[in-house]
Amino acid sequence: CIWPHTFNFDLTLDNLLWMLDFVGKAKWDAWKSLGSVSQDARQQYVDLIDSLLAAEGPAVAAQPTGSAATFDTLLVSTEDNITTIRLNRPQKKNAITVEMYNEVIKALEQAGKDDSVITVITGSGDFYCSGNDLTNFTKIPEGGIEQMAKDAGELLREFVKAFIDFPKPLVAVVNGPAVGVSVTLLGLFEIVYATERATFHTPFSQLGQSPEGCSSYTFPKIMGNAKASEMLLFNKKLSAVQACAQGLVTEVFPDSSFQTEVATRLKAYAKLPRNSLALSKQLIRGTEKERLHTVNDQEVERLVERWLSDECMQAIMSFFQAKAKL
Ligand code: COA
Repeated sequence: CIWPHTFNFDLTLDNLLWMLDFVGKAKWDAWKSLGSVSQDARQQYVDLIDSLLAAEGPAVAAQPTGSAATFDTLLVSTEDNITTIRLNRPQKKNAITVEMYNEVIKALEQAGKDDSVITVITGSGDFYCSGNDLTNFTKIPEGGIEQMAKDAGELLREFVKAFIDFPKPLVAVVNGPAVGVSVTLLGLFEIVYATERATFHTPFSQLGQSPEGCSSYTFPKIMGNAKASEMLLFNKKLSAVQACAQGLVTEVFPDSSFQTEVATRLKAYAKLPRNSLALSKQLIRGTEKERLHTVNDQEVERLVERWLSDECMQAIMSFFQAKAKL
Protein backbone atom coordinates (compact mmCIF):
# COMPACT_ATOMS: atom_id res chain seq x y z
CA CYS A 1 0.00 0.00 0.00
CA ILE A 2 2.96 2.31 0.39
CA TRP A 3 3.78 3.47 -3.07
CA PRO A 4 5.88 6.29 -4.43
CA HIS A 5 4.30 8.91 -6.67
CA THR A 6 6.48 7.77 -9.54
CA PHE A 7 7.25 4.13 -9.05
CA ASN A 8 10.79 3.16 -10.04
CA PHE A 9 10.66 -0.39 -11.30
CA ASP A 10 14.40 -1.12 -11.00
CA LEU A 11 14.67 0.19 -7.47
CA THR A 12 12.18 -2.31 -6.09
CA LEU A 13 13.12 -5.27 -8.24
CA ASP A 14 14.99 -7.01 -5.41
CA ASN A 15 12.04 -6.72 -3.14
CA LEU A 16 9.78 -8.15 -5.71
CA LEU A 17 12.12 -11.04 -6.34
CA TRP A 18 11.95 -12.25 -2.81
CA MET A 19 8.29 -11.57 -2.59
CA LEU A 20 8.04 -13.97 -5.50
CA ASP A 21 9.14 -16.86 -3.29
CA PHE A 22 5.92 -16.28 -1.58
CA VAL A 23 3.52 -15.60 -4.40
CA GLY A 24 5.02 -17.92 -6.97
CA LYS A 25 6.61 -17.70 -10.37
CA ALA A 26 3.33 -17.26 -12.21
CA LYS A 27 2.84 -13.98 -10.44
CA TRP A 28 6.33 -12.89 -11.45
CA ASP A 29 5.64 -13.64 -15.11
CA ALA A 30 2.47 -11.61 -14.90
CA TRP A 31 4.32 -8.76 -13.22
CA LYS A 32 7.16 -8.78 -15.75
CA SER A 33 4.75 -8.65 -18.66
CA LEU A 34 3.38 -5.41 -17.28
CA GLY A 35 6.59 -3.55 -18.15
CA SER A 36 7.09 -0.27 -16.26
CA VAL A 37 3.59 1.13 -16.45
CA SER A 38 3.18 2.91 -13.17
CA GLN A 39 -0.59 2.41 -12.78
CA ASP A 40 -0.30 -1.30 -13.42
CA ALA A 41 2.60 -1.59 -11.04
CA ARG A 42 0.50 -0.02 -8.35
CA GLN A 43 -2.36 -2.39 -8.99
CA GLN A 44 -0.01 -5.32 -8.92
CA TYR A 45 1.36 -4.28 -5.55
CA VAL A 46 -2.16 -3.97 -4.20
CA ASP A 47 -2.94 -7.47 -5.49
CA LEU A 48 0.24 -8.76 -3.91
CA ILE A 49 -0.65 -7.36 -0.53
CA ASP A 50 -4.14 -8.81 -0.89
CA SER A 51 -2.72 -12.25 -1.53
CA LEU A 52 -0.37 -11.98 1.47
CA LEU A 53 -3.21 -10.98 3.70
CA ALA A 54 -5.46 -13.70 2.36
CA ALA A 55 -2.70 -16.22 3.10
CA GLU A 56 -2.41 -14.85 6.62
CA GLY A 57 -6.14 -15.11 7.34
CA PRO A 58 -8.40 -12.51 8.90
CA ALA A 59 -7.06 -10.29 11.67
CA VAL A 60 -8.49 -11.30 15.02
CA ALA A 61 -9.19 -8.45 17.41
CA ALA A 62 -8.92 -9.17 21.10
CA GLN A 63 -12.21 -9.40 22.89
CA PRO A 64 -12.24 -7.21 25.98
CA THR A 65 -13.40 -8.89 29.13
CA GLY A 66 -15.24 -6.95 31.76
CA SER A 67 -15.01 -3.54 30.12
CA ALA A 68 -17.58 -1.11 28.84
CA ALA A 69 -19.00 -2.52 25.63
CA THR A 70 -18.21 0.65 23.72
CA PHE A 71 -14.56 -0.29 23.06
CA ASP A 72 -13.35 -3.28 21.08
CA THR A 73 -9.60 -2.76 21.35
CA LEU A 74 -9.37 -1.21 24.84
CA LEU A 75 -10.35 -1.97 28.40
CA VAL A 76 -11.42 1.26 30.06
CA SER A 77 -12.33 1.49 33.73
CA THR A 78 -12.49 4.07 36.51
CA GLU A 79 -11.66 3.18 40.11
CA ASP A 80 -10.28 5.15 43.09
CA ASN A 81 -10.35 8.36 41.00
CA ILE A 82 -8.13 6.78 38.35
CA THR A 83 -9.30 6.15 34.80
CA THR A 84 -7.28 3.38 33.20
CA ILE A 85 -7.10 2.95 29.43
CA ARG A 86 -5.62 -0.47 28.71
CA LEU A 87 -4.53 -1.32 25.16
CA ASN A 88 -6.02 -4.75 24.67
CA ARG A 89 -4.64 -6.69 21.72
CA PRO A 90 -2.10 -8.77 23.65
CA GLN A 91 -1.67 -11.41 20.93
CA LYS A 92 -0.51 -8.61 18.56
CA LYS A 93 1.60 -6.98 21.29
CA ASN A 94 -1.00 -4.17 21.46
CA ALA A 95 -0.13 -2.86 17.98
CA ILE A 96 -2.33 0.14 17.25
CA THR A 97 -4.89 -0.45 14.51
CA VAL A 98 -6.95 2.33 12.92
CA GLU A 99 -9.80 1.26 15.19
CA MET A 100 -7.55 1.49 18.27
CA TYR A 101 -6.34 4.98 17.30
CA ASN A 102 -9.95 6.12 17.10
CA GLU A 103 -10.88 4.41 20.35
CA VAL A 104 -7.97 5.94 22.27
CA ILE A 105 -9.02 9.40 21.03
CA LYS A 106 -12.55 8.69 22.25
CA ALA A 107 -11.42 7.23 25.59
CA LEU A 108 -9.19 10.26 26.26
CA GLU A 109 -12.04 12.60 25.43
CA GLN A 110 -14.25 10.78 27.98
CA ALA A 111 -11.50 10.60 30.62
CA GLY A 112 -10.82 14.32 30.24
CA LYS A 113 -14.43 15.00 31.23
CA ASP A 114 -15.08 12.31 33.84
CA ASP A 115 -14.65 12.68 37.62
CA SER A 116 -11.28 10.97 37.81
CA VAL A 117 -8.17 12.80 39.00
CA ILE A 118 -5.52 11.07 36.86
CA THR A 119 -5.58 8.96 33.72
CA VAL A 120 -3.38 5.93 33.15
CA ILE A 121 -2.40 4.27 29.88
CA THR A 122 -1.06 0.72 30.00
CA GLY A 123 -1.02 -2.51 28.00
CA SER A 124 -2.49 -6.01 28.35
CA GLY A 125 -0.13 -8.97 28.33
CA ASP A 126 3.66 -8.91 28.17
CA PHE A 127 4.03 -5.82 25.95
CA TYR A 128 3.14 -2.19 26.55
CA CYS A 129 2.67 -1.58 22.82
CA SER A 130 4.42 -2.46 19.55
CA GLY A 131 3.53 0.84 17.89
CA ASN A 132 1.62 1.39 14.70
CA ASP A 133 0.03 -1.81 13.41
CA LEU A 134 1.84 -2.31 10.12
CA THR A 135 -1.22 -3.96 8.58
CA ASN A 136 -2.77 -0.46 8.61
CA PHE A 137 -0.64 0.07 5.50
CA THR A 138 -2.40 -2.71 3.66
CA LYS A 139 -5.90 -1.28 3.85
CA ILE A 140 -6.08 0.80 0.72
CA PRO A 141 -9.15 2.99 0.26
CA GLU A 142 -10.81 3.77 -3.07
CA GLY A 143 -8.75 6.92 -3.49
CA GLY A 144 -5.58 4.78 -3.65
CA ILE A 145 -2.31 4.92 -1.80
CA GLU A 146 -2.05 8.70 -1.64
CA GLN A 147 -5.48 8.82 -0.02
CA MET A 148 -4.44 6.14 2.45
CA ALA A 149 -1.38 8.16 3.48
CA LYS A 150 -3.46 11.33 3.78
CA ASP A 151 -6.11 9.59 5.93
CA ALA A 152 -3.44 7.98 8.12
CA GLY A 153 -1.80 11.40 8.58
CA GLU A 154 -5.09 12.98 9.65
CA LEU A 155 -5.75 10.18 12.11
CA LEU A 156 -2.26 10.46 13.60
CA ARG A 157 -2.62 14.24 13.90
CA GLU A 158 -5.89 13.85 15.85
CA PHE A 159 -4.44 11.06 17.98
CA VAL A 160 -1.40 13.09 19.07
CA LYS A 161 -3.57 16.20 19.50
CA ALA A 162 -5.71 14.27 22.02
CA PHE A 163 -2.56 13.80 24.15
CA ILE A 164 -1.34 17.40 23.74
CA ASP A 165 -4.72 18.78 24.80
CA PHE A 166 -5.45 16.27 27.57
CA PRO A 167 -6.38 18.40 30.60
CA LYS A 168 -5.44 16.12 33.53
CA PRO A 169 -2.21 14.40 34.61
CA LEU A 170 -1.41 11.47 32.31
CA VAL A 171 0.52 8.47 33.61
CA ALA A 172 2.11 5.77 31.44
CA VAL A 173 2.38 2.41 33.20
CA VAL A 174 4.86 0.74 30.87
CA ASN A 175 4.32 -2.94 31.66
CA GLY A 176 6.71 -4.29 28.99
CA PRO A 177 8.55 -3.38 25.78
CA ALA A 178 7.38 -0.25 23.97
CA VAL A 179 7.92 0.51 20.28
CA GLY A 180 7.33 3.44 17.91
CA VAL A 181 4.53 5.88 18.62
CA SER A 182 3.94 4.41 22.08
CA VAL A 183 7.47 5.61 22.96
CA THR A 184 7.44 8.95 21.17
CA LEU A 185 4.26 9.99 22.97
CA LEU A 186 5.89 9.55 26.38
CA GLY A 187 7.21 13.12 26.31
CA LEU A 188 3.57 14.24 26.62
CA PHE A 189 2.95 12.29 29.85
CA GLU A 190 3.42 13.69 33.37
CA ILE A 191 4.71 10.42 34.84
CA VAL A 192 6.21 7.35 33.16
CA TYR A 193 6.57 4.27 35.39
CA ALA A 194 8.30 1.26 33.87
CA THR A 195 8.94 -2.34 34.80
CA GLU A 196 12.63 -3.24 34.59
CA ARG A 197 11.61 -5.57 31.72
CA ALA A 198 10.50 -2.65 29.54
CA THR A 199 12.53 -1.45 26.56
CA PHE A 200 12.09 1.70 24.49
CA HIS A 201 12.60 1.48 20.75
CA THR A 202 11.84 3.89 17.90
CA PRO A 203 13.01 2.15 14.71
CA PHE A 204 11.91 4.92 12.35
CA SER A 205 14.85 5.14 9.96
CA GLN A 206 14.90 1.34 9.81
CA LEU A 207 11.32 1.57 8.52
CA GLY A 208 12.03 4.49 6.16
CA GLN A 209 9.87 6.70 8.37
CA SER A 210 10.38 9.71 10.65
CA PRO A 211 9.54 10.58 14.29
CA GLU A 212 6.06 11.52 15.49
CA GLY A 213 4.26 12.11 18.79
CA CYS A 214 6.10 15.48 19.11
CA SER A 215 9.28 13.53 19.92
CA SER A 216 11.34 15.62 17.48
CA TYR A 217 10.75 18.41 20.00
CA THR A 218 10.24 16.66 23.35
CA PHE A 219 13.11 14.13 23.13
CA PRO A 220 15.93 16.65 22.55
CA LYS A 221 14.39 18.75 25.32
CA ILE A 222 14.26 15.80 27.73
CA MET A 223 17.58 14.09 26.96
CA GLY A 224 19.60 16.48 24.78
CA ASN A 225 20.26 16.29 21.03
CA ALA A 226 22.95 13.62 21.18
CA LYS A 227 20.90 11.04 23.07
CA ALA A 228 17.68 11.92 21.20
CA SER A 229 19.44 11.37 17.87
CA GLU A 230 20.69 7.97 18.96
CA MET A 231 17.07 6.95 19.50
CA LEU A 232 15.20 8.81 16.78
CA LEU A 233 17.75 8.62 13.95
CA PHE A 234 19.80 5.54 14.75
CA ASN A 235 17.15 3.25 16.28
CA LYS A 236 18.94 2.73 19.60
CA LYS A 237 16.81 0.61 21.90
CA LEU A 238 17.00 1.72 25.54
CA SER A 239 16.56 -0.45 28.60
CA ALA A 240 14.22 0.87 31.29
CA VAL A 241 17.19 1.86 33.43
CA GLN A 242 18.79 3.77 30.52
CA ALA A 243 15.49 5.49 29.69
CA CYS A 244 15.22 6.54 33.33
CA ALA A 245 18.79 7.89 33.36
CA GLN A 246 17.94 9.92 30.24
CA GLY A 247 14.83 11.44 31.81
CA LEU A 248 12.24 9.72 29.62
CA VAL A 249 11.12 7.46 32.50
CA THR A 250 10.25 8.69 35.99
CA GLU A 251 11.04 5.50 37.90
CA VAL A 252 11.79 1.83 37.24
CA PHE A 253 10.44 -1.02 39.41
CA PRO A 254 11.30 -4.72 39.69
CA ASP A 255 8.94 -6.71 37.50
CA SER A 256 7.71 -8.82 40.43
CA SER A 257 6.43 -5.82 42.41
CA PHE A 258 5.74 -3.42 39.50
CA GLN A 259 1.94 -3.49 39.52
CA THR A 260 1.51 -3.28 43.31
CA GLU A 261 4.11 -0.54 43.83
CA VAL A 262 2.68 1.55 41.00
CA ALA A 263 -0.89 1.04 42.24
CA THR A 264 0.08 2.25 45.71
CA ARG A 265 1.66 5.44 44.31
CA LEU A 266 -1.21 6.17 41.96
CA LYS A 267 -3.88 5.66 44.61
CA ALA A 268 -2.11 8.21 46.80
CA TYR A 269 -1.73 10.72 43.94
CA ALA A 270 -5.39 10.31 42.98
CA LYS A 271 -6.41 11.54 46.45
CA LEU A 272 -4.90 14.96 45.73
CA PRO A 273 -7.30 17.78 44.81
CA ARG A 274 -8.47 17.30 41.23
CA ASN A 275 -8.58 20.93 40.13
CA SER A 276 -5.25 21.82 41.66
CA LEU A 277 -3.57 19.00 39.75
CA ALA A 278 -5.30 19.80 36.46
CA LEU A 279 -4.60 23.52 36.66
CA SER A 280 -0.97 22.94 37.64
CA LYS A 281 -0.50 20.61 34.69
CA GLN A 282 -2.03 23.20 32.39
CA LEU A 283 0.37 25.85 33.74
CA ILE A 284 3.39 23.63 33.11
CA ARG A 285 2.27 22.58 29.61
CA GLY A 286 0.41 25.75 28.61
CA THR A 287 3.44 27.72 27.54
CA GLU A 288 4.44 25.13 24.96
CA LYS A 289 1.05 23.90 23.80
CA GLU A 290 1.00 25.94 20.59
CA ARG A 291 4.51 24.81 19.84
CA LEU A 292 3.51 21.17 20.31
CA HIS A 293 0.62 21.55 17.86
CA THR A 294 2.97 23.07 15.28
CA VAL A 295 5.48 20.25 15.80
CA ASN A 296 2.68 17.68 15.45
CA ASP A 297 1.56 19.25 12.15
CA GLN A 298 5.11 19.26 10.79
CA GLU A 299 5.82 15.67 11.85
CA VAL A 300 2.58 14.46 10.24
CA GLU A 301 3.36 16.31 7.00
CA ARG A 302 6.79 14.67 6.83
CA LEU A 303 5.39 11.21 7.63
CA VAL A 304 2.75 11.39 4.91
CA GLU A 305 5.62 11.98 2.44
CA ARG A 306 7.65 9.16 4.00
CA TRP A 307 4.76 6.68 3.76
CA LEU A 308 4.76 7.26 0.00
CA SER A 309 8.51 6.67 -0.35
CA ASP A 310 10.37 3.66 -1.79
CA GLU A 311 12.30 3.31 1.47
CA CYS A 312 9.18 2.90 3.54
CA MET A 313 7.43 0.65 1.06
CA GLN A 314 10.40 -1.69 1.02
CA ALA A 315 10.51 -1.81 4.83
CA ILE A 316 6.83 -2.69 5.07
CA MET A 317 7.23 -5.41 2.46
CA SER A 318 10.17 -6.78 4.46
CA PHE A 319 7.94 -7.07 7.52
CA PHE A 320 5.37 -9.11 5.60
CA GLN A 321 8.06 -11.18 3.94
CA ALA A 322 9.56 -12.05 7.33
CA LYS A 323 6.11 -13.04 8.63
CA ALA A 324 5.45 -15.16 5.53
CA LYS A 325 8.67 -17.10 6.11
CA LEU A 326 7.71 -18.09 9.67
N1 COA B 1 2.16 -4.38 13.43
C1 COA B 1 1.53 -5.49 13.03
N2 COA B 1 1.65 -6.67 13.65
C2 COA B 1 2.44 -6.71 14.73
C3 COA B 1 3.12 -5.59 15.21
C4 COA B 1 2.96 -4.37 14.51
N3 COA B 1 3.54 -3.26 14.90
N4 COA B 1 3.81 -5.94 16.30
C5 COA B 1 3.58 -7.24 16.51
N5 COA B 1 2.76 -7.71 15.56
C6 COA B 1 2.25 -9.08 15.43
C7 COA B 1 3.30 -10.01 14.84
O1 COA B 1 3.34 -9.91 13.44
C8 COA B 1 2.78 -11.34 15.34
O2 COA B 1 1.67 -11.68 14.53
P1 COA B 1 1.38 -13.25 14.19
O3 COA B 1 1.12 -13.91 15.51
O4 COA B 1 0.20 -13.18 13.28
O5 COA B 1 2.63 -13.75 13.52
C9 COA B 1 2.22 -11.01 16.72
O6 COA B 1 1.99 -9.61 16.71
C10 COA B 1 3.18 -11.33 17.84
O7 COA B 1 4.42 -10.71 17.56
P2 COA B 1 5.82 -11.51 17.44
O8 COA B 1 6.64 -10.83 16.40
O9 COA B 1 5.56 -12.97 17.26
O10 COA B 1 6.42 -11.27 18.90
P3 COA B 1 7.94 -11.02 19.29
O11 COA B 1 7.95 -10.93 20.77
O12 COA B 1 8.84 -12.01 18.63
O13 COA B 1 8.31 -9.59 18.66
C11 COA B 1 8.00 -7.26 18.18
C12 COA B 1 7.55 -8.46 19.03
C13 COA B 1 7.10 -6.09 18.54
C14 COA B 1 9.47 -6.94 18.52
C15 COA B 1 7.88 -7.59 16.67
O14 COA B 1 6.59 -8.13 16.42
C16 COA B 1 8.07 -6.39 15.79
O15 COA B 1 9.19 -5.98 15.54
N6 COA B 1 6.95 -5.78 15.34
C17 COA B 1 6.99 -4.60 14.51
C18 COA B 1 7.19 -3.38 15.38
C19 COA B 1 7.23 -2.12 14.55
O16 COA B 1 8.02 -2.01 13.64
N7 COA B 1 6.34 -1.16 14.88
C20 COA B 1 6.22 0.06 14.17
C21 COA B 1 7.17 1.04 14.74
S1 COA B 1 7.13 2.59 13.89
